[in-house]
Amino acid sequence: MNTLALRWSLDNKPHLSVLDQQLLPQVEKWIGIHDCNEMIAAIKALKVRGAPLIGVSAALSLAQSGLHGSSKEKLLQEATALMAARPTAINLMNCVNRLQKVILANVKPELLLKETLTEALAIAQEDVELCDRMAHYGAALIESGDSILTHCNSGALATAGVGTALGVIRRAHELGKKIHVYVDETRPLLQGARLTAWELDKFQIHYTLITDNMAAHVMSLGKINKIFVGCDRIAVNGDFANKIGTYGVAVCAHYHQIPFYVVGPQTTVDSKCLSGAEIPIEQRHAHEVRGASGSFGNVIWSQENTPVYNPSFDVTPAKLVTAWILDTGVLTYKNISEGALK
Ligand code: MRU
Repeated sequence: MNTLALRWSLDNKPHLSVLDQQLLPQVEKWIGIHDCNEMIAAIKALKVRGAPLIGVSAALSLAQSGLHGSSKEKLLQEATALMAARPTAINLMNCVNRLQKVILANVKPELLLKETLTEALAIAQEDVELCDRMAHYGAALIESGDSILTHCNSGALATAGVGTALGVIRRAHELGKKIHVYVDETRPLLQGARLTAWELDKFQIHYTLITDNMAAHVMSLGKINKIFVGCDRIAVNGDFANKIGTYGVAVCAHYHQIPFYVVGPQTTVDSKCLSGAEIPIEQRHAHEVRGASGSFGNVIWSQENTPVYNPSFDVTPAKLVTAWILDTGVLTYKNISEGALK
């Protein structure tokens, strides 16, 4: 299986590699992942990132461990460690939980190996299909002439398929709709500037990069008429977590009466989470805010001891969302309040 950011083959021995997303766009370097510890390190460092992709990658990493002969006990320990790599995107837990069930259900080693691999590959393939379905439903909401704002990276780099929000935008472009995309750079790790801009360029979709603090101004000028963002966890009341800055975009969209759509697959819905207040928010290192790192090296522009607050995600309340684009269709606030996500 080959995706934009993940390669898996089983020619002689299992081979799993990921595109190092921390080095993009200047350097396109694939790194081999040989065991679950390497996958955990890659996920923590955001070399592998995006809610669906970290779930798929963790599942394949466990399958690889099984093929290397890991015992049932070791696989279960690795599953627990993988789930702890990042706390906010529920896809990681949902995908690893599926493998945990397979591991627990199979006692014979050869069956355990086969079933674990089958389940991991099914998860990857399903993600491709979920993305296609979201792209189908979402692209129908886009018209020629639309000028769309997006935040973070929710494209093929963040999933095994075309993406979530960016997949919708890409599908509209492939359908021949003439669109323009404004890309928030997405501080602190710049997924918009580094990754979304790279994808839009690759797929020849017209775009303009702006810094995050320009978004409200660009909206006030009437330059944006639709907003599409991805998500890392959706609560059953429709609140959702996405990359830090999404909430601010939603507030500005509400003020300017711009339709604000969130796009996510069923693997991002947390049926146990009643509202956004229950979503754990990942806190990341201070150095990400004090400066920037990439293929260009490390730059620090603050004093080295500058106190920092660095939540990686924020929660957008359901009231600010125009519609939720899922793989099952488009839901309104009324659908959600009547229990569509329960
Ligand atoms: O910290 P990241 O880069 O993994 O955060 C990713 C996002 O917030 C995306 O917008 C999100 O995963 C939703 S779409 C795949």
